[in-house]
Amino acid sequence: MGGYQASLSAACGIIPSPLIAQMPMKVLGIETSCDETGIALYDSEKGLLADALYSQIELHQKYGGVVPELASRDHIRKTLPLIREVLDKADCALSDLDGIAYTAGPGLAGALLVGGSIGRSLGMTLNIPVIGVHHMEGHLLAPLLEKNGPEFPFVALLVSGGHTQLVEVPEIGRYTVMGESLDDAAGEAFDKVAKMLGLPYPGGPHVAKLAEPGTPGRFDFPRPMTNRPGLDFSFSGLKTFTMNTVEKNKVNGVLDEQTRADIAWAFQEAVADTMVIKCRRAFKHSGLKRLVMAGGVSANLRLREKLAIMAKEEGGELYYPGFAYCTDNGAMIAYAGCMRLLAGQQDDLSILAKPRWNLETLPSLS
Ligand code: KG4
Ligand code: ZN
Repeated sequence: MGGYQASLSAACGIIPSPLIAQMPMKVLGIETSCDETGIALYDSEKGLLADALYSQIELHQKYGGVVPELASRDHIRKTLPLIREVLDKADCALSDLDGIAYTAGPGLAGALLVGGSIGRSLGMTLNIPVIGVHHMEGHLLAPLLEKNGPEFPFVALLVSGGHTQLVEVPEIGRYTVMGESLDDAAGEAFDKVAKMLGLPYPGGPHVAKLAEPGTPGRFDFPRPMTNRPGLDFSFSGLKTFTMNTVEKNKVNGVLDEQTRADIAWAFQEAVADTMVIKCRRAFKHSGLKRLVMAGGVSANLRLREKLAIMAKEEGGELYYPGFAYCTDNGAMIAYAGCMRLLAGQQDDLSILAKPRWNLETLPSLS
């Protein structure tokens, strides 16, 4: 993977293009990093013009997780039809596009290459600038698509299937990771606990639904890494604790419905409380009072509720994307790419695919 990644990206660099910096732009966003094909058209003056999403959940569900090769093949089938659909919805033609943004990483190598190849080729054909966007920068900026989005600076809690990070954000493009998960990401933990409880992939929304009739206080799960200082997370111990609780409470090899709900509740509560403790600490550590949560797990209502209370107690405010823009989508990529293109950045002719990519290495906009 390393050599192949290097050969794709070694020649890549950002070329400043000050000429386009002052003009309004219509940017096509292409997201194909995992199991969702997301396409969107963002206008720097009018906002989001149209978007469309194709989820591969059904394709992967019978395997209990994403099968990378199947994901790539499906992105190949869906990306161009979705681009056509989005342009039609926005009543635009390819010739109306001023720029293209595609997810360049992190993600599945083959899946990234699909969006990258299509985005780069379209850009070359249309002779417009193209930029490879960091998927987590996309998530992080998604709340700015909302009418009352946050002002800078803020603390961002990124909680997705692959990442759990607390990031200090003074402005677009400047990111300092204050803490992150040392093992499983929050979404990954939700997905694994879902499996233990016999729920389908991706598990987060199913665990949340199962937890609704759960009995508060029946099980008391640990809040990992909260009794020592620091902003890092760890969810693997909590996952094992959940597994042990599942096994201990089975009667004749099965869990009764109420016990399943009670375990889901206790797990969700432990994750949410852990996030609350760490975010409160991040406020203290940074002196900031605006909290942005983004990524798939930010769709979790209990987590939103608890973080909103914490932010208020600290004299601050919580911001999150609309439901459709918590999980993977093309709009966040179009937006993040548009901000960079407007700042005069664009890539050279390489196709970028970086399965691993450190958010802190991104260039700032200034
Ligand atoms: O951001 P995302 O769509 O993809 C990645 O970049 O990984 O996040 C997907 C993750 C999955 O692990 C899914 O189970 C989780 O987000 N998720 C949730 C909820 N909705 C999605 N987790 C908890 N509660 C939810 N309501
Ligand atoms: Zn994501």
